[in-house]
Amino acid sequence: MNENIPVHVGIIMDGNGRWATERGLERSMGHKSGVKNLKTLCTYIFERGVKVLSVYAFSTENFKREKKEVDFLMSLFVESFYKEFSFLKDNGIKVMFSGRREPLPRKVLEVMDRMTLETSDFDGPIFNICLNYGGQDEIVDMVKNISKLVSNQNIEIEDITKEVVNKNLYQDLPPLDLVIRTSGEQRISNFMLYQSSYAEYYFPKVYFPDFNNDEFDIAIEEFQKRNRRFGGNKK
Ligand code: IPE
Ligand code: IPE
Ligand code: MG
Repeated sequence: MNENIPVHVGIIMDGNGRWATERGLERSMGHKSGVKNLKTLCTYIFERGVKVLSVYAFSTENFKREKKEVDFLMSLFVESFYKEFSFLKDNGIKVMFSGRREPLPRKVLEVMDRMTLETSDFDGPIFNICLNYGGQDEIVDMVKNISKLVSNQNIEIEDITKEVVNKNLYQDLPPLDLVIRTSGEQRISNFMLYQSSYAEYYFPKVYFPDFNNDEFDIAIEEFQKRNRRFGGNKK
């Protein structure tokens, strides 16, 4: 059996709104279905041996949406995080968040902080939730962090390496091996730009609420067929 399982998988969970609209439902129902799907899916993804799962839950740009939708999503995050926290803990899943804190509401930050703190010494699979996340903002924030280190003389400019850059991103994670974007859109919409330099991309047509375990198996099969060269000429 080919057990070439990606270490780090990223999912751009897109299409919740269209999933709902096509069923004559409010967009919010699509977001609810997306959360429900994520619980089953993330359990399965870790069972298959993936070590790090990064999910794009809310981009910095998503604040441009109607206030009603943004408010709904913020409440959904709080509700789902509290509801699913014990499930994540019982499964030894280390939860982390990537993104800017500003302008997230305090109630969202509180539950994020609690989940981060209470799973911080877990050494199991990592569930990285990108919330109020933007890939370009992450790079800007990394440059600011490293600039501070240089001006405080904690590091010499000559000693800035790719490892130093990675350590100064929101989270110090291995590179992405596979990025899945559901809903058929073929763009990355500002998701983990630095980490995806040699990622394989996969764009299934299904909307996120329908991206089930079987769909994930198909993504893995597709990944296993790819010939990753990393700029070399092997295979
Ligand atoms: C993704 O689904 C979830 C978030 C961005 C929060 P969308 O809400 O973008 O759904 P579509 O793309 O409008 O169908
Ligand atoms: C990307 O989806 C962000 C998330 C899935 C959280 P969008 O729906 O916001 O992206 P665009 O606007 O289609 O590029
Ligand atoms: Mg979308």
